[in-house]
Amino acid sequence: MTELKTSVDFKKIDEILKEYNYNKTNLITILQKVQAIYRYLPEEAISYIGENIEGLSPATVYGVVTFYAQFSLEPKGKYEIKVCDGTACHVRGSMPVLEAVRKKLSLQNGKMTTPNGLFSLETVSCLGACSLAPAVVINEKVYPKMTPDAVLIIIDTLLKENE
Ligand code: FES
Repeated sequence: MTELKTSVDFKKIDEILKEYNYNKTNLITILQKVQAIYRYLPEEAISYIGENIEGLSPATVYGVVTFYAQFSLEPKGKYEIKVCDGTACHVRGSMPVLEAVRKKLSLQNGKMTTPNGLFSLETVSCLGACSLAPAVVINEKVYPKMTPDAVLIIIDTLLKENE
């Protein structure tokens, strides 16, 4: 997925670092802000942050990034599709929903983001909305009681909006 990787604008990162006083206690927020720009955390950005905050190093920041599931080292799609595979969702059929999305977007062999950068797909553990199982979240919006057919209609709608 290297073709989706962006070059880093260090000026933007400097602005964020400045806003948060180059303070290591604000590291998570800083990383969230940087990820919001690129939809992932480019390696150069991680190193830069580690080098410019006192008391941190690129290795430490990298460690934090890999620890938290909210951070990604790979580019994500414009639409981040999260299929819940917690117990309630699994029992009520989240796997056929996941399979339908994977097939529709031709995401095979561990690929998570479509080559056009439009969609990325991942499974997550319980979203805390078990009564809505099986649940799918697309960019923070929860889609309840999903079926393979329903999720395909949603994807088709998003595809149309981006034609
Ligand atoms: S198991 Fe999916 S929302 Fe709880």
